[in-house]
Amino acid sequence: MNKIEIAKGVYNVGAVDWDMRDFHGFTTNRGVTYNSYLIVDEKVCLIDTVKAPFAAENIERISEIIDPTKIDYVITNHVEPDHSSGLPALMQKAPQAKVVVTANGKTEVLKHYQQEYDFMVVKEGDVLDLGKNKLHFVPLPMVHWPDSMVTYLDGEQILFSSDSFGQHICTSKRFDDENDLDKVMYEAAKYYANILMPLGKTVSKAVDKTAQMPLKMIATGHGIIWRSYIDKIVAKYKEWSSGQTKDKVVIAYDSMWGSTEKMARCILDGVAATGVAVKLYKMSDSDRSEVVMEMLDAGGILLGSPTLHNGMLATMGALLIYLKGLKPANKLAAAFGAYGWAGGAQKDMEELLKTAGVSLTEGVTLKWVPDKDEMDACFNFGKEFGQKVLERNQKP
Ligand code: FEO
Repeated sequence: MNKIEIAKGVYNVGAVDWDMRDFHGFTTNRGVTYNSYLIVDEKVCLIDTVKAPFAAENIERISEIIDPTKIDYVITNHVEPDHSSGLPALMQKAPQAKVVVTANGKTEVLKHYQQEYDFMVVKEGDVLDLGKNKLHFVPLPMVHWPDSMVTYLDGEQILFSSDSFGQHICTSKRFDDENDLDKVMYEAAKYYANILMPLGKTVSKAVDKTAQMPLKMIATGHGIIWRSYIDKIVAKYKEWSSGQTKDKVVIAYDSMWGSTEKMARCILDGVAATGVAVKLYKMSDSDRSEVVMEMLDAGGILLGSPTLHNGMLATMGALLIYLKGLKPANKLAAAFGAYGWAGGAQKDMEELLKTAGVSLTEGVTLKWVPDKDEMDACFNFGKEFGQKVLERNQKP
């Protein structure tokens, strides 16, 4: 990616990690970008750096525009290493620069990099005059870490939004309207579900603050920059962070000798008979990050596993541990599965579902292989579950 002037005197000098496929457990099939922005005004300011292996690229792009010794401020919106681990290399080239952070950010930078930079600690409402434009600082703790903040450039009306509104997608085209919007929105939803889902309340406050700013651009920390579909992505964030759900059920299961799979398909038919949309994923063949994205707006989730060694299959355990951290909001959930001489999988799944914060309802199990009556029972179970999802969504 070459440097790109996104507005007068504002450049994207970040890096594109085309090969990145696993972002701490989030599968990133379209790669990851680490966006870093240089503002050349009467004062020179860098918004975020990049992940350490890309620091040389970041510095090279900056150097094509301006000598790094001219940088006055390095704004560190977020200390997570995908945005800040390039800071030590950058500061070697720009030792005169002040590092602008929140109070939590200063603590985190010191612990991560063990360097006493010339820190400038900012809080809500603080303003930095760059000359023609001013930068306004808006701390947003827990969107995504305690240090997190966003920065607003008033003249050009650009919000440097750090992790919010991002997507893990690599493309040589850097703006929303230059790309397939459906693909970008898909990646934005996947990103929200896998990174921000447990932080819905704090994200909701961030969305309210964003809605008050006149915006020509949202320059994200990851992925494409929003300029033509700002209203669309802000509306989606409002919807996702509110925990609003649809008449939709996601069934995620795994199977050993086919019985739990037969159950899953009968249950699916039962849910579908109520008119509720339903999706089915076999976890040994599915992308966990995509399944979680589908759960984001689903009113119900059903998890199935046969019993192996008195417990659930490891594939289901991995999904449930992930869900326990993500705390999906407003979901009705149940567990199902087949067992042989003794059960155990359903209990394992139910315990983890409870810790994930869902509303648990009674599930269904059967011994060995489903017969005709048991297949009917699974269909009816799916039908009742679908009805319950409809009733919950109708409640004000
Ligand atoms: Fe993109 Fe929370 O780091």
